Amino acid sequence: MAAAEVGDDVLDGDPTMRELEGRVAGLLGAGDALWTPSGSMGNLIALMHHLDRGDAFLAPTGAHVLDAELGTAAWLAGGMPRPMDHDAGPGKVSPAAVRRAAGSTGPYYTLRTTLLCLENTHNAAGGAVTAPEEHAAVVAAARGAKLRVHLDGARLWHAAVALGVPPGALTVGVDTVQVCLSKGLGAPVGSVVAGSAEFVEEARRLRKMLGGGVRQGGVLAAAGLVALDRMDRLSEDHERARTLAAGLRERGWLVGVPETNIVLVAVADLDGTIRRFADAGVRASTMAGQVRLMTHADLTDADVTAALERIGPVEPTRPGATAPASGRAARLRGDRAPAHPAGS
Ligand SMILES: Cc1ncc(COP(=O)(O)O)c(C=O)c1O
Repeated sequence: MAAAEVGDDVLDGDPTMRELEGRVAGLLGAGDALWTPSGSMGNLIALMHHLDRGDAFLAPTGAHVLDAELGTAAWLAGGMPRPMDHDAGPGKVSPAAVRRAAGSTGPYYTLRTTLLCLENTHNAAGGAVTAPEEHAAVVAAARGAKLRVHLDGARLWHAAVALGVPPGALTVGVDTVQVCLSKGLGAPVGSVVAGSAEFVEEARRLRKMLGGGVRQGGVLAAAGLVALDRMDRLSEDHERARTLAAGLRERGWLVGVPETNIVLVAVADLDGTIRRFADAGVRASTMAGQVRLMTHADLTDADVTAALERIGPVEPTRPGATAPASGRAARLRGDRAPAHPAGS
């Protein structure tokens, strides 16, 4: 970062920024790309570009643009959110559901559904992966219904590594895509939003409007280039997440088999469990009504072992020992995990 060649990215460009943006555009099969300070800003820029007031957009339930960006899709981009059930598996919507939800043109006083916003991997669904053929079918359905498509690919690298496919195989047919250089890749800051050259020209204006233009951005872009070099390392995080999940199951916790680096633990007493983990020195957060644990670039195998020892078994007298009331637990058991040793 200290050695990065820099310019003024707000004025006439920064060479390291351009290198990063060019490389990401190439990886994603896009015409061009633009660095943004955060994934939320990258998503917002794309949605501001796609949506007008009076429009509606579709997104799978729990999508980051629906639940974790303070409603900016509606109050800044102007689109009313229409969440869709995961009818095609965790984090996924089916082509038929997209066709149904897109509907047909209504009277002038009804919202126009103009955009489908996908998320791969889907964070709140536990880092769930959408495969290229599933992606292509949903995008084709959206296109057939005259919708534009934005892909929130904050964690797209995880999906690509988990599937063993190039990232560009997961962006086919989309108008715009946002990817994060932080998250599992480990850069301290930065995301990239990509699309056609015309989109990026407009996105640069929108980024400035939101206060996201930076001057000697090459310092930050250099970290992004290092992050991209380390993409293949994500498979280690996925392996550690599986080890962590298996260890938790052995200790009686209700956990599915993670597809990437996110481990969701279904518990009845969410706050109590987070406190218990914190008291033991394991930092966890909440996600979709469950406890979320992540593996990342700074963790070793020994850290995973230590975390399991600190967390320990579910205690039968504690609320976490009983199966939660939601159907999520059954889905975890039935679809993605071996039988849970009930009450153990
Ligand atoms: C799927 C998804 N999209 C967008 C974001 C937002 O990224 P940022 O925190 O950089 O704004 C996140 C962050 O976790 C995410 O998981």
